[in-house]
Amino acid sequence: MLAGKRLLLIIGGGIAAYKALDLIRQARRAGATVTPVLTRAAEEFVTPLSASALAAEKVYRDLFDLTDEAEMGHIELSRSADLVVVAPATADLMGKMAGGLANDLASTLLMATDTPVLIAPAMNVRMWEHPATQRNLATLRGDGVKVVGPDAGEMACGEFGPGRLSAPEAILAAIEAHFADGPLTGRHVLVTSGPTHEPIDPVRYIANRSSGQQGKDIAAALRDLGARVSFVTGPADVAPPEGVEVHRVETAAEMLRAVEAALPADAAVFAAAVADWRVTDAASSKIKKDGSGALPTLSFAENPDILATVSKGAQRPKLVVGFAAETDDVIAHATAKRARKGCDWILANDVSPATGIMGGTENAVTLISEEGAENWPRMGKDAVAARLAARIAEALA
Ligand code: CTP
Repeated sequence: MLAGKRLLLIIGGGIAAYKALDLIRQARRAGATVTPVLTRAAEEFVTPLSASALAAEKVYRDLFDLTDEAEMGHIELSRSADLVVVAPATADLMGKMAGGLANDLASTLLMATDTPVLIAPAMNVRMWEHPATQRNLATLRGDGVKVVGPDAGEMACGEFGPGRLSAPEAILAAIEAHFADGPLTGRHVLVTSGPTHEPIDPVRYIANRSSGQQGKDIAAALRDLGARVSFVTGPADVAPPEGVEVHRVETAAEMLRAVEAALPADAAVFAAAVADWRVTDAASSKIKKDGSGALPTLSFAENPDILATVSKGAQRPKLVVGFAAETDDVIAHATAKRARKGCDWILANDVSPATGIMGGTENAVTLISEEGAENWPRMGKDAVAARLAARIAEALA
């Protein structure tokens, strides 16, 4: 239920805007207060009076309204809610949000707000499928914006496909899901993921076979339990999960900087396969064959150990979890690694090629903690992630 929750409902200009009126009714019935904001275009489809009457609240329409500014400035308005809902989110509104434009009240509120945002897109199917809209959608998801719909079906314009505004019941369910508490609600967890790339010259680098799948699954599982997740990822094969704060890096040194900038955190999981060495004096232009058959010589320096640095640092999270990728004597090496790095738990896994774990979809791990070693059966990386997230929630409770 939504008792006591304050929603700022931005109604975009589309044929589906009338459904936003029903959403107001249903959200109020669920206990929420709804403050409507209408874009200019929305007023072509619904009247401010009907929105105001159904919400039993003042409706905001104009960025430069002197009375509104005197009563409640637009910055304050943007922050007065527990959730900003955009329904229908038109292609134009999504474009403005993704591009950071603020040239009317709705877009200014969306730029100024520090509360979470949920959008319910609605537009013609061609517009929805247009690469620009899909790009904007990806950007918004990366920014942590939640998305409900659109549905597929016959559209007002006569075409068929995805683009229809979700039913008010479905939007309401997404709003309720947003407020549902998980065991990690209010917690901040940091996750590193993927490989790092250490440059040799502008076109060549040293890397490893990590796909980033396990780190991605862990971040998603923590998010699903309600955590705010800072996701620091190297150049992984898999895309980051939705609804987490993504920090993209290339090298181990950049990863350490991004991790330190994201602290403090309640817990941190170091799933990245960080390159142990970097090439000293990486060439600034491409290394060429000189025709003599002479081979280039690379010299290496050791990279900072991010897990150890954080485990022993002043901003150490309460729970620090590392991985140990080993090919032999897995438990013995991982136990020694836990002590050496100063973390609380190590998830040890056997990455010998025969296991197919590195780059695969399954993982077989042993959790090593102060209490000893606990074998987990071989399971999907998503199941390992869910189990780990649940254990983290228990440990932080
Ligand atoms: N790790 C890290 N920074 C590094 C190297 C590793 O944060 N420069 C983290 C990994 O994210 C992982 C753990 O340390 O959680 C262990 O990684 P692993 O590659 O198994 O260990 P190494 O320290 O590289 O040890 P070795 O190569 O001797 O096995």
